[in-house]
Amino acid sequence: MPIIRFKTSGRVVELPDGGDAVNLLRVSIRHECGIPWRCASGNCGTDRVRVVEGAENFDKPRRRERERLGDLLDAGFRLACQSYVDGDCTVEWDPDQVGLDVDSKAYERLRRIWLSKEDSA
Ligand code: FES
Repeated sequence: MPIIRFKTSGRVVELPDGGDAVNLLRVSIRHECGIPWRCASGNCGTDRVRVVEGAENFDKPRRRERERLGDLLDAGFRLACQSYVDGDCTVEWDPDQVGLDVDSKAYERLRRIWLSKEDSA
């Protein structure tokens, strides 16, 4: 059973065996794990996380993520909204990163769109 650990918030999510790779930000939103985010589309960089363990269980970075992160990719950083994982991993982020206000309409609108996608997360 894949386990995703969100070190900064202390949250842990166990996913069912045999599912497809899951989007890291979607897991975080759905299970209230606390990764800050703003655009959910690879543009803002707010959801930058450092992969502490399990980098081998992440998909390869796509063009937008490579452009946004540059050299930070080599230092183990990923954008949660652009990353898919299919095994155990641990991520952390700077607690000073500020995302959308969870009480804002923009947050709720994007959250609803983001979570309407079907997956095993
Ligand atoms: S939330 Fe903006 S880049 Fe991921």
